[in-house]
Amino acid sequence: MILPIVGYGNPILRKITQPITKDYPQLSELIDNMFETMYNARGVGLAAPQIDLSISLIVIDAHPFAESYPEAEGFNRVFINPEVVEEFGEMWLFEEGCLSLPELHEEVSRHSNVLVQYYDKDFNPKEELLTGVRARIFQHEFDHLQGKVFVDRLSSIRKTLLKRKLNDISNGRVSTSYRMKKPSIKK
Ligand code: NI
Repeated sequence: MILPIVGYGNPILRKITQPITKDYPQLSELIDNMFETMYNARGVGLAAPQIDLSISLIVIDAHPFAESYPEAEGFNRVFINPEVVEEFGEMWLFEEGCLSLPELHEEVSRHSNVLVQYYDKDFNPKEELLTGVRARIFQHEFDHLQGKVFVDRLSSIRKTLLKRKLNDISNGRVSTSYRMKKPSIKK
């Protein structure tokens, strides 16, 4: 089932998510729905707050990047309750976008490597070193679990320049090929 995607401005994107347990209701169905929603919107990653659930769950499929970035091949993962052990390596710029911030693409600087611990979809504990585009997609999605979005990482000048676009998204004045959740009406 394709779920509506929450847009920038919705307070759920600002909340720190809660970890889940193995008996979270209909977890495998939820994971399937998140993948379906992500593929439908042509995304490479989706975090639970973006479908209005404040839980520590991320799905990623980096396949669309595989032609340009060989390390993206085979990076199809479910991250449950992920934690960053360490980020290291050089800072590099990469143009990021986000399904919750349609039509916005900005270069963001992040570390090239990240060591993560998480549970997979069957709740097996894992530790994995991610590099390059793998690290980048994970870092972007992990931010969502911390109540952050990529524009938070831009310079204040850049953010000021984007203010109008961000306002439009907050107010639902944006057109997308996928369904977005209507912003709640401000009183
Ligand atoms: Ni995002």
